[in-house]
Amino acid sequence: MKLSKRVQQLSPSPTLAITAKAKALRQKGQDVIGLGAGEPDFNTPEHILHAAREAMDEGHTKYTASGGIPELKQAIIQKLERDNGLSYQPGQIIVTVGAKHGLYNLFQVLLDEGDEVIIPAPYWVSYIEQVKLAGGVPVVIDGKEEQQFKITPAQLKDAITERTKAILINSPSNPTGMLYNREELRALGEICIQKDLLIISDEIYEHLIYGGEEHVSIASLGPEFYKRTVVINGVSKTYSMTGWRIGFAAGPAEIIKAMTDLSSHSTSNPTSVAQYAAIAALTGTQEPVGKMKEAFKKRRDYVIKRVNAIPGFHCQIPPGAFYAFVNIRGALNGKYKTPDEWAEALLEKELVAVVPGSGFGSNDHIRISYATSMEQLEKALDRIERFVKQS
Ligand SMILES: Cc1ncc(COP(=O)(O)O)c(C=O)c1O
Repeated sequence: MKLSKRVQQLSPSPTLAITAKAKALRQKGQDVIGLGAGEPDFNTPEHILHAAREAMDEGHTKYTASGGIPELKQAIIQKLERDNGLSYQPGQIIVTVGAKHGLYNLFQVLLDEGDEVIIPAPYWVSYIEQVKLAGGVPVVIDGKEEQQFKITPAQLKDAITERTKAILINSPSNPTGMLYNREELRALGEICIQKDLLIISDEIYEHLIYGGEEHVSIASLGPEFYKRTVVINGVSKTYSMTGWRIGFAAGPAEIIKAMTDLSSHSTSNPTSVAQYAAIAALTGTQEPVGKMKEAFKKRRDYVIKRVNAIPGFHCQIPPGAFYAFVNIRGALNGKYKTPDEWAEALLEKELVAVVPGSGFGSNDHIRISYATSMEQLEKALDRIERFVKQS
């Protein structure tokens, strides 16, 4: 069977090969440590589980409105007001099957063949593929390491063409953990206003920030910013709810309506019970988030200290998310051509799985997720250190 051109151009995830290999080794009884996961290792907090059980007992097990139940939309509106100073009406909100689905729908309703979306690198892998699936063209700008992995207004200006439709901003970022401050966002946003571009602001890691830095939603910088921004967010990372698949988008009503119409013909609605769980997450106690953050901060500080002590490695302190994007170019020693080869050898010899940077748009880095226990991190870093010393 000949598959569609659309899917033939899909690049398989470069993390897939290493994850599959790690799994195969584990199945053979090998003690593999996985540092690839993009999800917190904690279970979903008890009060959220309780809300889901209650929803089932009360019979909330049927189809819901495509764009989400009104109670959850209200909870999202409250959250956006409370955390981001943003004011929305229910018609400006859609609940999606994870933030990933929100982004997917957004590109589908926004892009015509050949429309360009500016994506700063290093980027989260799915942005590129989702833009291509919608017929769009991803235009990548290099957020250089010496610029703390951020793009500059001059770079943005240079990348804009007649076909540019939107720019994607992901702060804090996966994979680098970097965070744009208010002034930086304003400078980028002003160019988008001048050039009449849509801003897609992926804020999924907004609560996972460990120093004194603040998360700023670009939509909150003024009415001109607000009206051209679609905020993408969800409960996956903040509340350790990756498996529940609840995300949301907030933005211009016309775009949100189109996204909702699209959902009505694909997913119908996000899982009913998960929507009730998400209400508890957004409106209930935020104490578990604080505890998780404390653990992540300790792990981040530990990982950064250890990797920076390894010859040939260097990594800036990432202010947010739960990843260290480590430059390992100096440790390849002519023996490995790329971090992909290096990561494969690390897995074979020392049974540690890390994700090479190629999938995120870099050939100098690996991504280490510290969303795993301190004990595992200590063991993994001992092994990585030994591997580098023996290479
Ligand atoms: C930057 C970024 N955006 C969106 C998502 C998707 O999150 P969700 O689980 O809500 O689909 C992820 C998940 O890894 C992510 O890292």
